[in-house]
Amino acid sequence: MSNKKILEIKDLKVFYESSRSFFTGKNIVKAVNGLNIDINQGETFGLVGESGSGKSTVARAILNLVKSNSGEINLEEENLLKLKGSKLRSKQKQIGAIFQDPYSSLNPRMKIKDIIAEPLRVQGKKDVEEDVKNLLKMVGLDNRMDNRFPHEFSGGQRQRIGIARAISTNPKLIICDEPVSALDVSVQAQILNLLKDLQKKLNISYLFIAHDLSVVKYLSLKIGVMYLGKIVEMADSETIFSNPMHPYTKILINSIPVPDPKIERKKKFIPIKGDIPSASNPPAGCVFRTRCPNPTSDCKDGKSEMGLIEIEPDHWVDKCCVNCK
Ligand SMILES: Nc1ncnc2c1ncn2[C@@H]1O[C@H](COP(=O)(O)OP(=O)(O)OP(=O)(O)O)[C@@H](O)[C@H]1O
Ligand code: SF4
Ligand SMILES: [Mg+2]
Repeated sequence: MSNKKILEIKDLKVFYESSRSFFTGKNIVKAVNGLNIDINQGETFGLVGESGSGKSTVARAILNLVKSNSGEINLEEENLLKLKGSKLRSKQKQIGAIFQDPYSSLNPRMKIKDIIAEPLRVQGKKDVEEDVKNLLKMVGLDNRMDNRFPHEFSGGQRQRIGIARAISTNPKLIICDEPVSALDVSVQAQILNLLKDLQKKLNISYLFIAHDLSVVKYLSLKIGVMYLGKIVEMADSETIFSNPMHPYTKILINSIPVPDPKIERKKKFIPIKGDIPSASNPPAGCVFRTRCPNPTSDCKDGKSEMGLIEIEPDHWVDKCCVNCK
């Protein structure tokens, strides 16, 4: 690990326009609404939050799969949102991606050797057979399997192929969007270990996205808890678990089952009310107000518009929530 900053996201906003109806016009979905993240070389930043909080939109914005409205996405100090054409393409090549469903992200008609070789060939490399065999070995697959098609592999093996493809071009950063969510628990552990080993060997940085805080904890040095397009709490992984400040973080931690059934039975369960509100009409004041177990009348004012505050070194929490229980 080093202090070299690989990714720096500043005040990123990504809004979708979805038509409400033919007569009423556009609806603006504020999927990412002022997000700040730093990732150093060789480190993992875990982004956690429930469905609809905006995690994949952050991933899509970094990968240039969706247009950002404002802010900065700096990859090694160069703002991707200001680049165009070949300059942007060459910077984007330094970012790899691993997605939740390896089957749908691997072309079913292509042999594994061609799937893994494709990014290398796009970069103009010709003799890639040896590279592909090495990559298969690095992700724990038998390199004699390279003539097979994706359907001949299990879910975990397919995710290994996706990882081989993602690391093939030596990226500085890999965006992992729910890479183990579709896998059995035992296979999840193998894939997480593989990602950890590869990080050590190759000094890659990960943005690791998941809705499960315990999965994120395993890999991440720092964790950001995302709710309705904003990070509401951010700290190193240990602090998030030992001293959570935001009620939403506390609820996420409380929902993780404890392996000891005696402790689990005695645990006081903190329920979360209802569903996440629509990102096109977020609550005024604290965005978590409508689901918070202990809201007060002060929570309706506009303090949450002010962003995060550092309450102790490297521990950031939504300004509106500094005194909340
Ligand atoms: N193409 C789109 N058009 C309009 N709204 C969208 C679009 N894609 C996502 N959204 C909305 O943006 C918000 C954030 O979605 P996003 O997929 O980023 O969330 P997520 O945290 O990744 O959720 P999940 O855990 O279900 O993958 C949601 O309200 C979603 O409905
Ligand atoms: S500011 Fe109020 S509503 Fe928001 S999390 Fe804190 S106590 Fe709950
Ligand atoms: Mg998602």
